[in-house]
Amino acid sequence: MARDILFSGIQPSGQLNIGHYLGAMKNWVRLQQDFDCLFSLVNLHAITQRQEPAELKKRSLDFVALYIACGIKPEQSVIFTQSDVPEHSELMWLLSCHTYMGELERMTQFKDKTAKNTDNINLGLLAYPVLMAADILLYQTKAVPVGNDQKQHLELTRDLATRMNNRYGDIFTLPEPYIPSVEAGGRIMSLLEPEKKMSKSDENAGNYIALLDSPDVIRKKLKKAVTDTDSEIRYDREHKAGVSNLLTLLSGATGKSISTLEADYVGKGYGHLKVDTGEAIVALLEPIQTEFARLRNDETELNVILKSGADKARAQARNTLEKVKTAMGLL
Ligand code: TRP
Repeated sequence: MARDILFSGIQPSGQLNIGHYLGAMKNWVRLQQDFDCLFSLVNLHAITQRQEPAELKKRSLDFVALYIACGIKPEQSVIFTQSDVPEHSELMWLLSCHTYMGELERMTQFKDKTAKNTDNINLGLLAYPVLMAADILLYQTKAVPVGNDQKQHLELTRDLATRMNNRYGDIFTLPEPYIPSVEAGGRIMSLLEPEKKMSKSDENAGNYIALLDSPDVIRKKLKKAVTDTDSEIRYDREHKAGVSNLLTLLSGATGKSISTLEADYVGKGYGHLKVDTGEAIVALLEPIQTEFARLRNDETELNVILKSGADKARAQARNTLEKVKTAMGLL
């Protein structure tokens, strides 16, 4: 029996950090057992912001090597670069002609980005969610693991799919947000400002632990992590954001539950918690970094993986695109 399709994309921008691993990538590894997965490096989305070409290329290969080092299996899942599959851009145009300006202009992310990048409010920024809809709909995707910040884009994708299906007949599968059934790693917050999410494009590197940070850097960053002025090690996101974040990290890195950890740390100090969390993260990342170094040393192998991923993705993408074109009367 055919399995449902799951699609997720990640932009090659900033640095992959422990928040991505515990909050997303670790789940993807598990999801490979239940879904036919496609994981795309969405570099066409990344260029809505100015990119240095050599940097973009290097970072893209870093990201792919990290995906694989974290446990995404190229034999099992399709790993590919968005720009290798021209059908994404092509379907985007067809969808664009069915997307209203008002729908795009009211997207929260568009409003945020235009407020921040006043010197580069380009058309791509506005069209971003249409490209994302194309990514998803091309593969008849059923499940899309998304964070809160992408829910609105997924809603638009569903609206577009429904609109097209009503107009042209059943072409697209209606995608749904995928919420993991098991309590996932939990939201990982910034180390220095634990009220906000750990972000890969934070200007202050002290806010995140990059997956490629060296053991010493990891230990130092944790030592500086913000806690609070009382001394109780207890999980309370509202009043003890920093300590709760450390507990979440330690729980994610060791697999122990938060309540077990709370019991373990009765009577112990924050210094203790920070050191243990640092060591647990170092131990978690060590095999990932070793595998990364091996893969990254051999660009030929990475390119073979990406080429094979693109071939597999294209075969499926072409199928859907042909259906749309035929249905729309494009000769
Ligand atoms: N917009 C997503 C983000 O920034 C990335 C993305 C692009 C994506 N296409 C996608 C995510 C398709 C899921 C499915 O996080």
